[in-house]
Amino acid sequence: MAFEHLPLRDDGSPAIGFGGDYYPEQWDRAVWKEDVALMTEAGVNLVSVGIFSWALLEPAEGVYEFGWLDDALDLLHEGGIRVDLANASASPPPWFSHKYPQSLPVRIDGVRLGYGSRQAFCSSSADYRRASAALTTKIVERYAAHPAVVMWHVHNEYGCHNDPCYCDASQASFQSWLRAKYGTIEAVNEAWGTAFWSQHYYSFDEITPPRATGTFINPTQRLDYSRFSSDDLLECFEAEAAIIRAHSPLPVTTNFMGLTMGLDRPIDYWKWADRMDVVSNDHYLIADDARNFQELAMTSDYIRGLADGAPWLLMEHSSSAVNWQPRNIAKKPGEMIRNSLQHVARGADAALFFQWRAARAGSEKFHSALLPHAGRDSTLFRDVVKLGAYLGKLGEVVGSRVVGADIVIINDTDARWASELDAHPSIDVTTVPETRLWHDALYRGGYTTDFRRATDDLSGYRVAIVPVQYLMTDAGAANLRGFVESGGTLVATYFSGIVNENDHIRLGGYPGALSEVLGIRIEEFFPLLQSETIALSEFGAGSKWSERGTVSSARVLAEYASGPVQGSAAVTRNAFGKGSAYYVGTSLTTGGVSALFAQVAAEASITPFVSVPQDVEVVLRSNAGTSWAFVINHTSEDVALSLDGVDLLAGSPTGGSLTVDAGGVAVVRLSTPIGDS
Ligand code: GAL
Repeated sequence: MAFEHLPLRDDGSPAIGFGGDYYPEQWDRAVWKEDVALMTEAGVNLVSVGIFSWALLEPAEGVYEFGWLDDALDLLHEGGIRVDLANASASPPPWFSHKYPQSLPVRIDGVRLGYGSRQAFCSSSADYRRASAALTTKIVERYAAHPAVVMWHVHNEYGCHNDPCYCDASQASFQSWLRAKYGTIEAVNEAWGTAFWSQHYYSFDEITPPRATGTFINPTQRLDYSRFSSDDLLECFEAEAAIIRAHSPLPVTTNFMGLTMGLDRPIDYWKWADRMDVVSNDHYLIADDARNFQELAMTSDYIRGLADGAPWLLMEHSSSAVNWQPRNIAKKPGEMIRNSLQHVARGADAALFFQWRAARAGSEKFHSALLPHAGRDSTLFRDVVKLGAYLGKLGEVVGSRVVGADIVIINDTDARWASELDAHPSIDVTTVPETRLWHDALYRGGYTTDFRRATDDLSGYRVAIVPVQYLMTDAGAANLRGFVESGGTLVATYFSGIVNENDHIRLGGYPGALSEVLGIRIEEFFPLLQSETIALSEFGAGSKWSERGTVSSARVLAEYASGPVQGSAAVTRNAFGKGSAYYVGTSLTTGGVSALFAQVAAEASITPFVSVPQDVEVVLRSNAGTSWAFVINHTSEDVALSLDGVDLLAGSPTGGSLTVDAGGVAVVRLSTPIGDS
C-alpha cells in the first residue's frame, strides 16, 4: 500500500483526520464561508466532497460544469482544510437513467427499480460503466493537482442499495464469470450439484441469475451469484480507480460498510481490501442495542483485519442520531467522543462523520451532523469542538498499529454468506451473531481481538476462535490444523467445517473439515426451538443448537444434561500436536463463553494488558518504540488504573495512576513501551 499518512498539516507532521462529508452544493455560497470558519473553529482538517454531485457536475451527457466545485475547493484550501475528493460515480443523475433505462437495477422478483433516491444503476450496465469512467476522467484531470486534494474517494458504499441486480445484462455477465471460473458447463453442474431436482444445464446460455422462483433456489448458484455480484462491482471500482491512478499518485479508497454485507447484499471485503490504497469504513450505532459500543469495537477490529493490521480511516460515523432506524435516538452526553476514540483506539487514523452540516432538505434532514440545525450555539457543536481538540492532540499515534491481540477470530466471507443460505437446520444459526457473542465475551474480559481468514498466517496468535464457519475450504482446514499442530489453541463452535467451497457436505460425520483436529464425530443435529435452552453439565445452558455425537480422542468438558441428546458431548477439548482444540456444540450464554474462555486463556497463558472493570475498554497502539493506551470508560463509575505515562488529552503525566471519569476517555503515552506488532 502506498499509504503512510495524509498530509493534513502544513508543517507535514501527522494528524488524525477529523471532519466529514461536505455538500456545499446543498447550500448558498454565503454559507460556504461560514462553513470554513466553523470547520476551523472545530479543528476539522479533512472533508469528503462531491460524493453525490454527478447531476450538478454533468448536467447533460458530456457537458460538464465544474465552476462551483472549483470555488468550493479553493475556499477550503484557503481555510487550510484538506479534501478527500469523490469521483461522483455513486449516483447517476435522472437524465442518465431516463436516457438509459436499461441501466436501472432489477430486483430478484423482476421489478426494475426507479430513480429518485440514489445508486440507481446495475453494475453490469455498459452505459453506466462508460459514463462513470468519463466522469472520473474529467474529475481527476481537473483536480489531480489541486492543492487541497489529498486522497480519492471512489463511489460510495458499493452495494448499499443496488446489489445484486437480476437484469439481463447481469445474466450475461454472470455467464461470462461462470465460464471464467469453471471452464466447462459440466464443472458448473458438478459444483452446483444439479443432479438434484432436474437442474442439469447443457449450456452456459441456459443459466440465469437466481431469480425468484417457486421454492428454494440452488444454494451454490446463490453463493456464486453473491461472489459474482461482488466481483462485478469490484470491476467498477477497479476501472475508476485505474483512471485515477493513471493521473494521480494520491491514495484511492472506497468506504466499506463494516459487517453489514451479507449473502443478499454481497461485497467480499477481504478481496476488496487488497485493492485499496487505504481501507476506509463507515459505522453507525444501532440505537436499540444496549451493547452497541461493543458492536462498534467488533466492527473496528474486523476492519483492522481487512487492512492486515495497518491503520485505516473511519470515513463516516454520526455525531448523534441517524435518520434510517425505526427510532433515531440521539447520542448521550460523551457518547460521540467515546465512539470516535474507540475507532481511533482500534486502528483508525481518521474519525470522519456523515456529515459536516445538517441538511435542510432531502431524506437525511433529520440525520445529525457536526454542525446541527441549531448552529454553532449548541451543546452538540461544543462537543464537536471538544472532540476536535482531543483528536488534535493525538497526531503522534498516526501510523501506529494496534498491539496486544493474542486472540484471532476467523471470519471468511464465504463461510458467512453460506451460513445465511436457506433450507438449513435452523434459521437462528448464522456467522455474525455467534461471532458477536464470542467477541462480546472477550471484550468484557478486556481482551483485544483481531480478525483474519482461515487461510491467513495465524502464527502470531495463541488462540483462534472459529464461530459458525459453516463453509470451510481444504486450505482453511489445513491451515487451522497446522495452527494447532504447532502449538495454537483452537476454539471451534457448532456448524463449522460442515461443507466445502461448493456448499457440499463433508461426509462421514460432522464437522468433516475439523473432526480429526477436534477429536469428535457428530452424527446428527438437534437444533432448538427459538426460545428453548438446554442445560449443560458445565458452562450453564445452550441455546439455538445441540447435537448427538461421540468423542474419538477429545475429553468431554460438558455434556448436555437433558433432552434427546442428554449425555452427548457439548463442550470438548482435544490435545493435538503441540496445541489443543476446543469444540462448543451449542450457543453458550455470554457468561458460559467467559467461563470456558477463562480455561482457554489459562492454558494459552494470555491475560489482558490491565485488569479493569467490565466495559472499561483499554486498547494499545504502538509504533517504533512508543506505545499508547486508549482508555474508554463506558460505565457509570469512575475507574482508576495503574498506567504510567503522559495523559495526552489532559496534557499531564499520570504519575503512575490514572482516573478516568464515568463515561470519560484518556490516551496515555506509556512510559514503558509494549513493543510493536
Ligand atoms: C451512509 C452513507 C451516507 C449517509 C449515511 C447516513 O450509509 O454513505 O451517504 O447516507 O449513511 O447514515
